[in-house]
Amino acid sequence: MRMIIRRARLGDAKNIAECFYASCEGLCKKCYNKYLCNDTLYSEKKIATLDKRLGTKNHLMLVATDSSKIVGFASLVGNSTEKTRHRAECGWFVSIGHSRQGIATRLVDKLIKEAKKSGLRKLEAEAAVENIASVNLAKKLGFEIEGKKKAGMLLDDGKFVDTYILGKVL
Ligand SMILES: CC(C)(COP(=O)(O)OP(=O)(O)OC[C@H]1O[C@@H](n2cnc3c(N)ncnc32)[C@H](O)[C@@H]1OP(=O)(O)O)[C@@H](O)C(=O)NCCC(=O)NCCS
Repeated sequence: MRMIIRRARLGDAKNIAECFYASCEGLCKKCYNKYLCNDTLYSEKKIATLDKRLGTKNHLMLVATDSSKIVGFASLVGNSTEKTRHRAECGWFVSIGHSRQGIATRLVDKLIKEAKKSGLRKLEAEAAVENIASVNLAKKLGFEIEGKKKAGMLLDDGKFVDTYILGKVL
């Protein structure tokens, strides 16, 4: 199957949300990311919000598609304040059925290249300390652990988890 990495476009949001849901096996009560889904499926309103962001200047969103299905996602959101405008925050996920096939590596590698092209100088990410896959992925792509945040994430089940702040100077 040929995997294509491309920019997300208007109308992709629902498929991105489905991929996000598939990246955590529906364990949403433990999930740190309430952005797209809750303990049931994501709402139409959230999907509409994401669709709106797809075209905005501060956001770069990439998807990996396997025929027509979105199986992976990586994004960056830039800062707009004067002294932090060189930095952007990254995120990524791959559906469980497609994990360990190098998809996140390809997505984040392209994200880094696009970030450099656009003039960004620093990428950052935050991952739960116990999120070994994500921390390893970041390290593999040249991110360094810059610090550890206590209670960095509040999970849907009400518990806190510590997070690593990961950074890569471009
Ligand atoms: C983290 C995630 C995006 C990795 O996606 P992936 O496509 O499976 O990653 P890749 O196949 O490109 O693997 C890249 C590297 O990540 C690390 N990695 C990936 N899965 C791993 C696992 N289960 N355990 C340990 N390391 C892992 C490895 O270092 C791997 O490099 P290697 O294959 O040379 O050893 C995926 O597991 C995921 O979506 N997790 C849930 C969502 C999430 O946590 N997002 C990040 C929030 S900060």
